[in-house]
Amino acid sequence: MSENRIEIEPNEYTDHFIANTALIVSMRPDGEKNVMALDWKKMEEIDGYPVIRAQVAYSRYTYELLTKGINEFTINIPSNKIHNAISIAGSYSGRDTDKFERAGLETIPGEKIQVPTLKDCILNYECRIIDTSKSNLSSHHYFYGKILKAFVSKELI
Ligand SMILES: Cc1cc2nc3c(=O)[nH]c(=O)nc-3n(C[C@H](O)[C@H](O)[C@H](O)COP(=O)(O)O)c2cc1C
Repeated sequence: MSENRIEIEPNEYTDHFIANTALIVSMRPDGEKNVMALDWKKMEEIDGYPVIRAQVAYSRYTYELLTKGINEFTINIPSNKIHNAISIAGSYSGRDTDKFERAGLETIPGEKIQVPTLKDCILNYECRIIDTSKSNLSSHHYFYGKILKAFVSKELI
């Protein structure tokens, strides 16, 4: 693998997953992708499988892609090198902005899924959506993604 990362078990290095804002990547059926800043995330076990629960507001373009696009997403924890991407991904919408171009983000093709992960991250997760549910307490929706691949940057080891 040319990337500066190695595959890990999903339950390794979770302190970095918990402590940092993530970038969630989603995709339209025609392959166009989007990236959004995501703080509301949790890793849990469902039926014995590792799952990431992403909480996404109905107003987001990301919500549209997760419900009407490809049934997958990636969760990426940025390294300091691309830290500015968080404010760009969290303040512009993919409806009218190519945030990859604006933030200078590069992608790595998914190994198990169609949606790519991001370069220059300390952690990457490839997830397939296995369930969704409504939040009764906020205008958010929960997306449960079974983790099919997890990677850590060699810099973190
Ligand atoms: C640090 C940070 C964390 C955020 N976390 C979330 C989150 O967990 N869920 C959410 O729906 N929006 C969250 N947002 C807001 C979205 O990232 C923001 O509205 C974004 O522009 C939506 O992009 P989209 O329309 O391309 O999906 C966050 C924003 C920032 C700056």
